[in-house]
Amino acid sequence: MNTVQLNDINLAYIDRGAGPVVLLVHGFPLDHSMWDAQIDAISAEHRVIAPDLRGYGESALGDVDDAVGVPLERYADDLASLLNALHITEPVCYVGFSMGGYIGWQFWRRHRDHVAALVMCDTRAVADNDEGRAMRLKMAAHVAEWGAGKVAEAMEPKLFAESTRKERPELVAETRRVITSTNVRAIAAAQLGMAARVDSTELLTDINVPTLVIVGEHDVLSTRDEMSGIAEKIPGAKFVEIAGAGHMTPVEDPAAVTKALLDFLRGL
Ligand code: MLT
Repeated sequence: MNTVQLNDINLAYIDRGAGPVVLLVHGFPLDHSMWDAQIDAISAEHRVIAPDLRGYGESALGDVDDAVGVPLERYADDLASLLNALHITEPVCYVGFSMGGYIGWQFWRRHRDHVAALVMCDTRAVADNDEGRAMRLKMAAHVAEWGAGKVAEAMEPKLFAESTRKERPELVAETRRVITSTNVRAIAAAQLGMAARVDSTELLTDINVPTLVIVGEHDVLSTRDEMSGIAEKIPGAKFVEIAGAGHMTPVEDPAAVTKALLDFLRGL
């Protein structure tokens, strides 16, 4: 991976291929490797930038107040700093998965000059309800004693469709390996950031760049109904459902997600 010094952190990122830039932003608590299949395929036609967000993968967590965590705005600002550091001035296609989508709404709010197109994959526009927020705060408070392995165990049934867990255990094991090796302070920091996130629903009707919404048929974290509602609100948005997949569509059906991305990118 490449690394670049941005303000308080050394940020690690993949930079592969040439052409219009596609920025792939991973979910929680993962790293750029969830996009491995898409990086390989899309970099044949585009320049793909796939960072590890602060605290994840090979990127440093930096100066973070453990009581506040990392607000989603800060991750979004890191991404803008990364593009600036790489002298990428032409607007990019921002592709955000789940937490990468929550960050995407903030990226759109704060850095829309950088955005030529949006892909929102298995994500949500609403803020958490009280129950969801309480679960995040609980994890943030206890993850240091639980360890990241327990987080992986708790999340697995929500991340993958039942059929994937039965038939493709190697995919589940790889994601478990990534989560288990994640810095527990980064997990806590992101949970605090996600718990504090604002509702972005009111943004949707004003999005005026080409947008693609992707969801797994069996996603229980960001459901098909919720995501088709997002697509309906964004003017002209395309909607693709990945049959048989759960939340982790880019990993569970890499070929279908890559095809949806390439069809969309070729039409821009
Ligand atoms: C993710 O996949 O990024 C997380 O499931 C998002 C979340 O915890 O809401």
